Amino acid sequence: MISNKTDYRKNAEEFWNDFENIKWFKNEPVPQYWIDFFKRYSGKNKSVLDLGCGAGRNTEVLFKLGFDTYACDLYKNMVSTTRKCLIGIGVDKKVADERVTLGDMLDIKFPDQYFDIVLSNGVFHNAYDLSELDKAIGQVSRVLKKNGHLCFNMFSSEKLESFKKTGDSVYVTKEGLVMTLITSQNFQRICLDHGLKAESPIVQYKREVSTGVRAVMRGIMVKD
Ligand SMILES: C[S@@+](CC[C@H](N)C(=O)[O-])C[C@H]1O[C@@H](n2cnc3c(N)ncnc32)[C@H](O)[C@@H]1O
Repeated sequence: MISNKTDYRKNAEEFWNDFENIKWFKNEPVPQYWIDFFKRYSGKNKSVLDLGCGAGRNTEVLFKLGFDTYACDLYKNMVSTTRKCLIGIGVDKKVADERVTLGDMLDIKFPDQYFDIVLSNGVFHNAYDLSELDKAIGQVSRVLKKNGHLCFNMFSSEKLESFKKTGDSVYVTKEGLVMTLITSQNFQRICLDHGLKAESPIVQYKREVSTGVRAVMRGIMVKD
């Protein structure tokens, strides 16, 4: 039985490094709404960070569309899978190793105002509490250029199933994964604190993922 924060982190590490789970993310199609968004900006010399890249499905599309693409993930098997994915489409191994690195959304290892776009698809709710979520959004804002875009997709608190509540906005799934879940209003409030405004209304819906049905929100934020 998982009893404390360290154990939850160990459990998450096992979950995200498990090749069965990685396979699920690898086989998921890239959402059409991101393809449409990225097509609008391709061929314009834009730099993109795929934050929490997972098995690399979005990173691959970004490379193919000709973006100056970087990707990072907290877990090593996600990083190695994304690198393999890029090598599979003809990216040189040295380039794949340089462009895809181990990295934490809480401490993004890039200079201020480095990226035109940050994609965070399914990542922010993996924060362990509200202060981590705030920190992650602050980090994204820091690495974005003025008028740069944050494309995000994350679970929200709108329709909660039987998650165990362990703190303010903090829940634990049946797999023992910690999630910080908030409303779209609160998300926008945190973003505003970091100079990020919604470009268009946040979209909300329900979706079936590998671990069950989740309330999801997604949107595009612009840096002031
Ligand atoms: C739901 S998956 C989404 C993966 C990928 N973005 C996609 O759309 O296929 C969430 C990813 O976030 C990563 N992750 C979790 N916590 C993270 C953190 N603190 N920093 C960076 N990545 C993290 C996980 O390893 C996992 O790859």
